[in-house]
Amino acid sequence: QELELKLEMLEKGGFDHFMLKEIYEQPRSIKDCMRGRIYPEEGKVQLGGIKEFAEKLKNIDRIIIVACGTSWHAGLVGEYLIEEYARIPVEVEYASEFRYRNPIITEKDVVIAISQSGETADTMAAIEMAKERGATIFGICNVAGASIPRLTHAGVYTHAGPEIGVASTKAFTAQVTVLTLMAFYMAQQKGTITTSKLIELLTELDHIPEKIQVALESNDLVKEVAEKIKDSTNCLFLGRGSGFPVALEGALKLKEISYIHAEGYPAAEMKHGPIALIDEEMPVVFIATQNSSYEKVISNIQEVKARKGKVIAIVTQGDTEVKKMADYCIEIPDAKEAFLPLLATIPLQLLSYHIAVMRGCNVDQPRNLAKSVTVE
Ligand code: G6P
Repeated sequence: QELELKLEMLEKGGFDHFMLKEIYEQPRSIKDCMRGRIYPEEGKVQLGGIKEFAEKLKNIDRIIIVACGTSWHAGLVGEYLIEEYARIPVEVEYASEFRYRNPIITEKDVVIAISQSGETADTMAAIEMAKERGATIFGICNVAGASIPRLTHAGVYTHAGPEIGVASTKAFTAQVTVLTLMAFYMAQQKGTITTSKLIELLTELDHIPEKIQVALESNDLVKEVAEKIKDSTNCLFLGRGSGFPVALEGALKLKEISYIHAEGYPAAEMKHGPIALIDEEMPVVFIATQNSSYEKVISNIQEVKARKGKVIAIVTQGDTEVKKMADYCIEIPDAKEAFLPLLATIPLQLLSYHIAVMRGCNVDQPRNLAKSVTVE
């Protein structure tokens, strides 16, 4: 038994849990995901897996993204990026809803199925249905050779390496990275982006792994914040724009592993419901980085403070304005809005991890959850 324990420690690379190990692997896994795919100096993206559809991408009218759980959140980030850069309308669907409707799918549609495991039953059924109706199916999967990559016409692997923790961390950021590359690739094909703009974006993307490393340095501070809110029964996560899916993912992570009821909301929707819940017992986590919605988020923070809510804000390094209002501020490096989800997700992963550990939960294998859901 001692040997078994030692073996497990070895597998966890010295970390207490697989989840923490996987959180810390992200600078590396994102680098692996981009390797051989981006050429910052030339302003070029190459995606060998979908190359044969390069021509088709010039003329598509619509993209439908299907996924479940965390992968669905990555899909929402993808929607933001593809619409922003490639100017193609995107719909993001829960695979389980899509498959049981009578959705409108044509031969001109491209469906992107996102799945870490490549085995999720609902996502597979959605693919089969779209395929029957003539759509072109791309996959974004982590597990090579799984069922979904075999069902799709083409695809791009995330190359994040095996993910053991049931709650997805490094697979999520790798999915977001692939979607970022796809958005730029489609923009390049459609001519909706200039080479100089791509050079600028890819140069920054190339340095995201280092910025993630910096974001990880907030760990001690995040642990302190976790200590303060670990006994809460509820928690709200708010963000706008590309910060909204980050809020959803932050809330999902917390409920999955700590069993605290958490909800993610677009910050502006707070006034249509969640604001009624806010009192001194309610921690509210804001994605309040310096981007286009900064001022708007600040006024949302003021609304929470006026009702005595506890504000935890993810801010851009050097921020001074939010610091005046928030109870706790966690800094991440500055980045373009497109790359914000990759960075802002990091402290939220750490926050739910520490809270779960402090509450004595089984972080790597939360109750009632499975790594891949092969039932309908
Ligand atoms: C399960 C896992 C989640 C995952 C979801 C979708 O619920 O616990 O972490 O996001 O399935 O899985 P997939 O493998 O399709 O990404």
